[in-house]
Amino acid sequence: MDKNQELIRKRENSKLGGGKERIEKQHAQGKLTARERITLLLDEDSFHEIGQFVEHRSTSFGLDKQKFPGDGVVTGYGTIHGRLVYVYSQDFTVLGGSLSETHAAKICRIMDLAMQNGAPVIGLNDSGGARIQEGVVSLAGYADIFYRNTRASGVIPQLSVIMGPCAGGAVYSPALTDFIIMVEDTSFMFVTGPNVVKTVTHEEVSSEDLGGAKTHAEKSGVNHFIASNDVDALKKVRDLLTFMPQNCEELAPQIENFTFNTSKLDTIGKILPDNNQMPYDIKKVIDCVIDDDSFREVHEDYAKNIVVGFARLEGRTIGVVANQPMSLAGVLDIEASKKGARFVRFCDAFNIPLLVFEDVPGFLPGTDQEWNGIITNGAKLLYAFAEATVPRITVITRKAYGGAFDVMNSKSIGSDLNYAWPTAEIAVMGAKGAAEIIFKREIKTAENPQSKWLEKEKEYAEMFANPYRAAERGIIDDVILPEETRAKVIAGFKMLEKKTTTLPKKKHGNIPL
Ligand code: HXC
Repeated sequence: MDKNQELIRKRENSKLGGGKERIEKQHAQGKLTARERITLLLDEDSFHEIGQFVEHRSTSFGLDKQKFPGDGVVTGYGTIHGRLVYVYSQDFTVLGGSLSETHAAKICRIMDLAMQNGAPVIGLNDSGGARIQEGVVSLAGYADIFYRNTRASGVIPQLSVIMGPCAGGAVYSPALTDFIIMVEDTSFMFVTGPNVVKTVTHEEVSSEDLGGAKTHAEKSGVNHFIASNDVDALKKVRDLLTFMPQNCEELAPQIENFTFNTSKLDTIGKILPDNNQMPYDIKKVIDCVIDDDSFREVHEDYAKNIVVGFARLEGRTIGVVANQPMSLAGVLDIEASKKGARFVRFCDAFNIPLLVFEDVPGFLPGTDQEWNGIITNGAKLLYAFAEATVPRITVITRKAYGGAFDVMNSKSIGSDLNYAWPTAEIAVMGAKGAAEIIFKREIKTAENPQSKWLEKEKEYAEMFANPYRAAERGIIDDVILPEETRAKVIAGFKMLEKKTTTLPKKKHGNIPL
């Protein structure tokens, strides 16, 4: 046979993965194949495969008779919106996408190239875990990947898409990456599956309930984004990457064709209710400040009392962190602190300026919070903001009480510009509680304690339930009208464009983990 023909035949053979039958089974489950996924993920005809003919070297348990070119993972590079990315896509049709020594080496090669060339890595995960027939070399292969995930953290963006099983220690590679996207109904992640759970804890639980996309989006926070199917997941990756730089030395790309519907300037001042005890949706405020349709919420279903996500201002990426009065009155608790901290650190690592909207009544009280470590966990958010060197602006819309005021990107922890709306209340605590403590004796001895309490509450509120005491001390930089917010934050970030701040020399900090 002609040698060129032989190559073409070998290529075609490799593209069949585990064979037609297994591909049909994959499709019947609503899943695409590893190669179909790469085709949808990358720009047309941009994929260049590396290691197409790599095969495993194992001979145990009849594996020498089960060789598939590529060994269950398709690896290579290509472009998304014209920008270089590295990708690996596990092929479930080949030995269940299980990870062998050579399968791991192929992934490591891609990660090494990504690090050397400063471009994101995208992992499409669909695997039965360690290749059972190979034993310990497979485990070492996982550890090789974990090591690289950790080394790459904060250097290049790493995105994991879970499009099938991801179980056992295999979960720790996605967990070490920046964002996880899980496909509804066809993906699951857990350290131990339902059978082991039943044996050890006697709990009966389905794979979906234990570790499905929804479970991890709502309960554990492991999953950042739910996708309705494979196509949706890959579209989400393409979109997300437009908000990120290629690596920690670069800035995110600027979008030229942004729009802003100026009618939102009339709406923004009407969002807050007259009664300061009533909730409102902070996402409406965010929408009235940023470029049209530019908000991409991260962790939408987890710790809803804080909202985090990417957005754009005049085409430039920013990270938004906002208390959400619609959920638990916007209070900070353990989950909200962890969620906020992780997002702030991603933005800081990748030169994405931070815009904070603050309406926080304080930290959530209770034994549950204290015993589960609100102290350590709240400190995570504090640490993340204090450590961040990117441009940072805060807008206080309403409440800014107690320690939560300090934590939510206050000037004292390094924020660059802090604004407050006229509705802002900046104080140690709410007027009712404050009056009860500092006027305790007067209230107790008054003829009518209840009306005395009300009188003192009003006195305290008049003194502190406004932004002007803080403005007098320079604790905030200005009081602005809601409709001025967009212009102020755009001007602020422009002014801060060349900001340079260096952290003290250290090996690394010790964030309260
Ligand atoms: C080798 C595997 C495999 C594995 C699946 N296969 N998992 N081969 N090693 N880990 C093979 C099957 O033999 C089968 O081969 C094909 O893949 C498809 O598997 P099915 O079971 O038919 O598919 P399905 O019914 O969809 O079930 C998928 C599954 C199940 C839930 C993933 O296969 C499963 O439970 N696999 C084992 C999972 C596991 O225990 N992995 C080890 C975890 S420990 P044929 O030839 O029939 O197509 C681990 C440690 C990592 O990963 C530690 C890192 C630190």
